Amino acid sequence: MAMMIPSQSYSYSSIVISLYYFLFLISFLLHTLASPTLHHCHHSQRDALLQFKNEFHLDAALHSWNKSRDCCSWKGITCDAKSGKVNSLYLDTISLNNSLKPNSGLFKLHHLDSLSLRNCSLHGEIPSSLGNFLQLTLLDLSHNNLLGQIPLSIGNLSSLIVLDLWGNNLVGQVPVSLGNLTQLRYLILSHNKLSGNIPVSFANLTKLCELYLQNNSLGSTLPDMSGLHNLEYFDVSENSFIGPFPTSLFTIPSLISVNLERNHFKGAIKFRNVSSSSRFQFLNFAQNNLDGPIPELISQYHNLEELHLSYNNLNGSIPKSLSKLFKLEYFCLTNNNMEGEVPSWIRRLTMVAFSNNSFNSFGPSSQVLDKTQVKWLDLSSNALQGPLPRWICKLTSVEILILSNNLLNGSIPPCLKNSTTSLTDLVLRNNSFSGTLPDIFNNATKLISLDVSRNQLEGELPKSLIHCTRLQLLNVRSNRIKDTFPFWLGSLPSLHVLILRSNKFHGPHVSTKFQSLRVIDVSHNDFTGTLPTFYFSEWLEMTTVGVEDDSFMISDVPYMGKVLNATALYISSMEIVNKGVEMEFKRINQDYKTVDFSGNSFCGNIPESIGLLKELRHLNLSGNAFTGNIPQSLGDLTKLESLDLSKNQLSGQIPQNLGGLSFVSTMNFSHNLLEGPVPRSTQFQGQSCSSFMDNLRLYGLEDICGETHVKNPVLEVPAEKEEQVVNWIAAVIAYGPGVFCGFVIGHILTSRKHKIAIYDVISELFPVMIYVFLK
Ligand SMILES: *[C@@H]1O[C@H](CO)[C@@H](O)[C@H](O)[C@H]1NC(C)=O
Ligand SMILES: *[C@@H]1O[C@H](CO)[C@@H](O)[C@H](O)[C@H]1NC(C)=O
Ligand SMILES: *[C@@H]1O[C@H](CO)[C@@H](O)[C@H](O)[C@H]1NC(C)=O
Ligand SMILES: *[C@@H]1O[C@H](CO)[C@@H](O)[C@H](O)[C@H]1NC(C)=O
Ligand SMILES: *[C@@H]1O[C@H](CO)[C@@H](O)[C@H](O)[C@H]1NC(C)=O
Ligand SMILES: *[C@@H]1O[C@H](CO)[C@@H](O)[C@H](O)[C@H]1NC(C)=O
Ligand SMILES: *[C@@H]1O[C@H](CO)[C@@H](O)[C@H](O)[C@H]1NC(C)=O
Ligand SMILES: *[C@@H]1O[C@H](CO)[C@@H](O)[C@H](O)[C@H]1NC(C)=O
Ligand SMILES: *[C@@H]1O[C@H](CO)[C@@H](O)[C@H](O)[C@H]1NC(C)=O
Ligand SMILES: *[C@@H]1O[C@H](CO)[C@@H](O)[C@H](O)[C@H]1NC(C)=O
Ligand SMILES: *[C@@H]1O[C@H](CO)[C@@H](O)[C@H](O)[C@H]1NC(C)=O
Ligand SMILES: *[C@@H]1O[C@H](CO)[C@@H](O)[C@H](O)[C@H]1NC(C)=O
Repeated sequence: MAMMIPSQSYSYSSIVISLYYFLFLISFLLHTLASPTLHHCHHSQRDALLQFKNEFHLDAALHSWNKSRDCCSWKGITCDAKSGKVNSLYLDTISLNNSLKPNSGLFKLHHLDSLSLRNCSLHGEIPSSLGNFLQLTLLDLSHNNLLGQIPLSIGNLSSLIVLDLWGNNLVGQVPVSLGNLTQLRYLILSHNKLSGNIPVSFANLTKLCELYLQNNSLGSTLPDMSGLHNLEYFDVSENSFIGPFPTSLFTIPSLISVNLERNHFKGAIKFRNVSSSSRFQFLNFAQNNLDGPIPELISQYHNLEELHLSYNNLNGSIPKSLSKLFKLEYFCLTNNNMEGEVPSWIRRLTMVAFSNNSFNSFGPSSQVLDKTQVKWLDLSSNALQGPLPRWICKLTSVEILILSNNLLNGSIPPCLKNSTTSLTDLVLRNNSFSGTLPDIFNNATKLISLDVSRNQLEGELPKSLIHCTRLQLLNVRSNRIKDTFPFWLGSLPSLHVLILRSNKFHGPHVSTKFQSLRVIDVSHNDFTGTLPTFYFSEWLEMTTVGVEDDSFMISDVPYMGKVLNATALYISSMEIVNKGVEMEFKRINQDYKTVDFSGNSFCGNIPESIGLLKELRHLNLSGNAFTGNIPQSLGDLTKLESLDLSKNQLSGQIPQNLGGLSFVSTMNFSHNLLEGPVPRSTQFQGQSCSSFMDNLRLYGLEDICGETHVKNPVLEVPAEKEEQVVNWIAAVIAYGPGVFCGFVIGHILTSRKHKIAIYDVISELFPVMIYVFLK
């Protein structure tokens, strides 16, 4: 997924490293090579260094710091060629694990011009004696644990060119005295807890090239910075700045990158007409409260490579002039109110994230494009209508194609085959696609997730899916697919999630090896027949605690979520099972192991081998025609959180060992032929009476149903449920005995013009009850 990383050239690390660390290292090396032939180091300097070494217990780390050697040759040190005074100290990543005392030996090295203690586990406050380093040009204390305020005395360091305090815990205001450091070119205060505004004195930092204030608590309005005519990189993202869009900032001709993400800027984006050719490559205004249209004038930034506008309230359509941004690669507009056409030129970009807007059509694709290199195309949650545009078949580099939650119709074109070679994720959920899912997956060997749920697809599952050897998720829920159980998918080594729910799958199941399955939902189909005794015996992933691999999901979402934080890209949540809530795909980890066979016509015994699925969390076999006893082996499913066996023909007793299932929060045994004592356990006592309704004769329900209902919960009805229960009784009398193997209750009822209503009890788990209303 390396391609998804927005070009890193805008990030602080590479720029700064490439620019000043390089120079610093070169000068350091030159010093080191030159020093032996020059003056020996001063005793006073040597002693100061040894004092410093003792303060931090550095004997092991700095064994070259030995009195018997010239201190100018010690590790991390260079000396001035003429005077022999120590002029640089470079101890990056050496663990100091202590705080700098105001009288530290360090502060006796008055001639330092470079001090770098990056990532040294330095704690405590920055002593104001720092102001003694009058010749310092580079100060790097980044990636430590430094607390407290930035000392005012920092304003003494008037030669400073580089100041890097990234990633500490510094609090309080940015000192006004920083404005005295008029030589500063790189100022990096990101990832601290600084508050207040940017001091007006910053207007004096006219040599500043790069200013990074990301992730602090800075606020109020931005001061006028238009005088910083050398500024190239400006990042105030993840702060609390308010006020209108800072138009004046964009008059600085040297700017290359501006990041305003995650602030509270509001109002319209306004640019002034620039006469000179613009250097802008990166603009990020995501996650603010900006509204109005995308200004036409953005097209004057003809070097623009990334444009991030996600999570604002922008409206109107995409200006035609944007097609002139020939260098644009990343264009993110997720969560705005944009409307009109999705222009066809976007297919030459690398990444397009237009999710959750109101785009309603595809622009004409008259224009012949020589490159169609889009790798990520997310147009989900818009109002796109009609069939897919022809150009969708020409996306020969596309890896992630997300078109879910639109009004698209027509067939899924077979020519999509040309794009499947590069695809990792194809998400067409919740549209109105019809016809068959074409047999286009012969070359789809990179495909990880395929979600065509909630459409009107018919026919069989394409057999070419057998070539998708990396497939982890197949979701065809809520279509009209008419096929037998795809046992052949058992050969896919990574298939974790198989959802066939609410289709017209039919016929019996045979034993199948599903070595990686974590979630299987075949509910609400027309499956029939008995499940073989050993049915579950080779579902390895459900029998073992998973290995470290928790990474299955729509490609590498967590990874990408992190990498693309700046783009505010949002992957639409995916529903996995009907739990009354949409479950976010990325949260489906190995702890969510589910078997849902409900609403079919399975009959015969529940296979004992179910007890092998020791990692199972959710089991739903309700609404079938299972007979015989509840298998004892269910008691082995010690991690079970929900169990629904309701609406079957199960007889005999509830196995007493089910009382030992200590994680179960929801159980349902209702509408069966069970009898005998209900196991006594906190979990059983915590169920509602209705979970045991309508059985032959269950005992020990006093605590659960109350004294008056213990004899037979079927006939003795809690007052508030009276009406429904009367109806259940009628239903059971009418159909209960008549339900036999091979019949689908739903069909019987529907054919008699009865209505089935399913109420999802939002207990985070399965629908607990199915009420049958007779009308
Ligand atoms: C310093 O070096 C000398 C010889 O080079 C060695 O004998 C001595 O142990 C060293 N001292 C320390 C503190 O490492
Ligand atoms: C800090 O140093 C440790 C090793 O001492 C390294 O693992 C870590 O990546 C470094 N962190 C940064 C931000 O450089
Ligand atoms: C840092 O010092 C503390 C004691 O001051 C010690 O407990 C801790 O282990 C040290 N950490 C490292 C990484 O040396
Ligand atoms: C700042 O520099 C002056 C010399 O210009 C010096 O006298 C003073 O002590 C320094 N202040 C601090 C806090 O180091
Ligand atoms: C910063 O400069 C101003 C003059 O511009 C001076 O009055 C002030 O003392 C300086 N501050 C520090 C901390 O050096
Ligand atoms: C900028 O510097 C000048 C002189 O160095 C000083 O007079 C002025 O007060 C400074 N401006 C700000 C805003 O600090
Ligand atoms: C700053 O970063 C932390 C950790 O990465 C994050 O939790 C926090 O939300 C960020 N602050 C802002 C204002 O975005
Ligand atoms: C911007 O300026 C150019 C001339 O420099 C002019 O042709 C163009 O119309 C201006 N655009 C706008 C939107 O003002
Ligand atoms: C955009 O929204 C503003 C109100 O925020 C409204 O006045 C304007 O008409 C909208 N423009 C379009 C093209 O919908
Ligand atoms: C889509 O955008 C609307 C407002 O523009 C917002 O209320 C909603 O939460 C967004 N949906 C998602 C899934 O982010
Ligand atoms: C499928 O892959 C093979 C080998 O990589 C290639 O020759 C063939 O053209 C591909 N077919 C399609 C439809 O892309
Ligand atoms: C698909 O690829 C084949 C061979 O690579 C080519 O002949 C055909 O025109 C392509 N179809 C589309 C719609 O691009």
